[in-house]
Amino acid sequence: MVGENTLDKIEQTERWVKDKLLNETTGHDWHHIVRVTNLAKEIAEREGANLFIVTMAALLHDVADDKIVNDETAALQEIVDWLQTIEVSDEAIDHIMEIIQTISFKGGTGTKVRTLEARVVQDADRLDALGAIGIARTFQYSGAKGQAIYDPTIQPRTNMTLAQYRNEKSSAINHFYEKLLLLKETMNTEEGKQIAEQRHRFMEQFLVQFFEEWGTKQE
Ligand code: ADP
Ligand code: NI
Repeated sequence: MVGENTLDKIEQTERWVKDKLLNETTGHDWHHIVRVTNLAKEIAEREGANLFIVTMAALLHDVADDKIVNDETAALQEIVDWLQTIEVSDEAIDHIMEIIQTISFKGGTGTKVRTLEARVVQDADRLDALGAIGIARTFQYSGAKGQAIYDPTIQPRTNMTLAQYRNEKSSAINHFYEKLLLLKETMNTEEGKQIAEQRHRFMEQFLVQFFEEWGTKQE
């Protein structure tokens, strides 16, 4: 159950986040937040997770992302300040902040999540990187970074540090092999796994068609 008071906190947070991310164009825009929050709520209900924690963490999960802000520590503190302003309990703040800081993929270098609520939000965020929307976001992010659609001379990276993952030149197509096709195996919840399977198959079809049009055979 989400009480009237908590609904108010959610609505206020929605407005606060929307204001920050509306003009974001690297794949973390407000609409990504809406999709992730809706999916997280749906999975939370199935899993019996705390709906307030899941909703708040989903809404806030990208506000301090190291790809968006210059000073991640300051951005995280800004979220804590916000949650205190709207009178979220210290215990809930700790939990929300832990989720935000542990769910990111970060080239496979991220830490493991600890709670059910974190597993739910992580699945919802990862699902939005898959399927048709995942493909669209990948090309948007690549364009924003000045990367090629595909460059046959650049091999997908297998082992990389966070700095390499973020800064080395790669391509949109390589991102499928470096991250997107690996996500299916990292899903935490049953529903997450099912949705990921379907979106994974769609991306595989996309790649087959892509390489067919490009004129090379996919190895
Ligand atoms: P991470 O969890 O790895 O930090 P995000 O999920 O925050 O990544 O990335 C936002 C979107 O941009 C996702 O759809 C992701 O797949 C895509 N993206 C991230 N890194 C790259 C990259 N190097 N090339 C292409 N797309 C990327
Ligand atoms: Ni996200």
